[in-house]
Amino acid sequence: MNLELFDDFDSAPAASEFLCEGAMLLQRFALQEDKAILAAVDQVAQHAAFRHMETPGGLRMSVAMTCAGSQGWVSDRRGYRYDGIDPLSGRPWPKMPDLFLEFARRAAAEAGFAGFHPDACLINRYEPGAKLSLHQDKDEASFDHPIVSVSLGMPAVFLFGGLKRTDPAVRIPLMHGDVVVWGGPARLRYHGVLPVKERAHPLTGACRINLTFRKAA
Ligand code: SIN
Ligand code: FE2
Repeated sequence: MNLELFDDFDSAPAASEFLCEGAMLLQRFALQEDKAILAAVDQVAQHAAFRHMETPGGLRMSVAMTCAGSQGWVSDRRGYRYDGIDPLSGRPWPKMPDLFLEFARRAAAEAGFAGFHPDACLINRYEPGAKLSLHQDKDEASFDHPIVSVSLGMPAVFLFGGLKRTDPAVRIPLMHGDVVVWGGPARLRYHGVLPVKERAHPLTGACRINLTFRKAA
């Protein structure tokens, strides 16, 4: 008997939820591939370590980040941008694992965005207390492609707002395996993550891993 099937994190029935025009929550969509994705994240992190980047204002981000793909997202005193080189190692970011490409393409298609081919995967690691303030993903060269966001490990509350920072945000609980896709008219919606509570997950321990796939260049 596979006891994991009865784990309280992962046993809730999966469903797809329409969030707004252009945005969908695909519940548990990554569940079958959770271990393979986490193993690939470990591989990436061996070549490009998780690090706490600095904001342009000089604050240390509470979320630790690394990247895979021909483009990686970077934040430092000079601002936010994509760069093909990991500033920590001076080398190109690790190649995007084929599993990531295929998974992101499939999730995007499920949400109505056929033909998604990301060139950047930002990997966020949240320890208890880590958070991401409301922001727009707007450092990409074009907003014609969706964002595919995969959540693994500890649960979190995702804030999904409007096109203006002051628009009200809905709170969406994200569990292990959940995928959120936003594009089209929702592409520039503000979003963030509330401080993550400690609730260790059997696969990740006291941490949450989030992957966001983007077409950056
Ligand atoms: C992000 O906005 O880059 C990440 C969102 C998340 O961690 O769920
Ligand atoms: Fe984001």
